[in-house]
Amino acid sequence: MSVEKTLSIIKPDAVSRNLIGEILGRFEAAGLRVAAGKLLRLTPERAQAFYAVHKERPFFASLCAYMSSGPIFVSVLQGENAIMKNREIMGATDPAKAAPGTIRKDCGKDVEQNAVHGSDGPETAGSEIAFFFRPDEIF
Ligand code: CMP
Repeated sequence: MSVEKTLSIIKPDAVSRNLIGEILGRFEAAGLRVAAGKLLRLTPERAQAFYAVHKERPFFASLCAYMSSGPIFVSVLQGENAIMKNREIMGATDPAKAAPGTIRKDCGKDVEQNAVHGSDGPETAGSEIAFFFRPDEIF
């Protein structure tokens, strides 16, 4: 295992339901450290750029509209095995299929409004962190 950084997004549905503290608390309780964080609102164009890998998927337009519908909380989480650990804490993409006790099971509304996003591997973690944070904003 190694110390890694990963990008986390608390999505508009969770921010609007006042769940930032609840969700960050779960990451911290699992041993991850918040190394950077900010609240911001994506423009539709920035949402399209962030999710460009999904641009051929049928849900792309709806996903980008949703992700730009209100503020999101973006953070860099750091810790041992942070990328996989974050994915375990989040649970499966679809809250209906997520394991009990995971963020998406407890806080997600549906497969699109699923409360959180997390990087899926070391390469995406690097590019997703750089999408939102300058090096001097990460501690
Ligand atoms: P996320 O982990 O941010 O990665 C891509 C996002 O697309 C995903 O979470 C969901 O918000 C959304 N998504 C994935 N699959 C579907 C789907 N079948 N229908 C609608 N939205 C989806």
